[in-house]
Amino acid sequence: MPDSRVPRRRRFLVCEPRHFAVQYAINPWMQPDIAVDASLAHQQWLALVRAYRAHGHDVDTLEPAPGLPDMVFAANSAVVVEGRVLGSLFHAPERRPESALYETWFKAAGFDVYRPENVCEGEGDLVWTGRYLLAGTGFRTTREAHREAQEFFGVPVIGLHLVDPRFYHLDTALFVLDDDNIAYYPEAFSPGSREVLARLYPDAVLATADDALAFGLNSVSDGRHVFMAPQAEALAARLDGHGYVPVPVDLSEFRKAGGGIKCCTQEIRS
Ligand code: ARG
Repeated sequence: MPDSRVPRRRRFLVCEPRHFAVQYAINPWMQPDIAVDASLAHQQWLALVRAYRAHGHDVDTLEPAPGLPDMVFAANSAVVVEGRVLGSLFHAPERRPESALYETWFKAAGFDVYRPENVCEGEGDLVWTGRYLLAGTGFRTTREAHREAQEFFGVPVIGLHLVDPRFYHLDTALFVLDDDNIAYYPEAFSPGSREVLARLYPDAVLATADDALAFGLNSVSDGRHVFMAPQAEALAARLDGHGYVPVPVDLSEFRKAGGGIKCCTQEIRS
């Protein structure tokens, strides 16, 4: 274990939760009859942005649109690797209009955007490790989209099968710590996919069921600081033991929509 983990400065894209609400149910966390505290959600989101900036990261924002309550979940709209932007095609019709709005932002920021032909939910399911993409399927992003991502980026895409509907996106069950390691919740994956992860990352940091249910795997690491849900206590202790520095940010209101820190964060890798 390195004595001191080194952070790398990141560029993030986020979208203010001005219209955030739970108005439909497209994952098991969403219950439209339970009210969201809009002002608490807003404060929690602002605290996340402040935490990123306080740790030296750049944060860009795009304008939220009325009628798109999940637009705050920026991670789902694209995946960006070495300046190439693979856009999104949402599984749920309710979220489909988000793709074009993010595409417009990327174009204005100087990026070309490739539109996938198959259901593809951006960094929700396509996780860049530094050498290849880990790609979730089972609930949202399809195997066909994995193939499209591989052709588009020209990088290996390693498919992983998600089996628990509570962990419907790969980024609810796994996150990248740095170029060498990841953290994940094994039970969210099929037996074969678990074996793949164990072969690729024999020293991975494993999370408990409680960590995963607290959205502890929906975290963002800069290589040293891990922006993570404070409720994922066992995971925080394990990360600390591996030399990472947990930075607690509570996004509890967003859990009502099945989202957390990573869901609210798109990383722009130039
Ligand atoms: N309600 C949203 C959905 O079901 C939550 C998305 C969370 N985003 C994520 N990257 N896991 O699509």
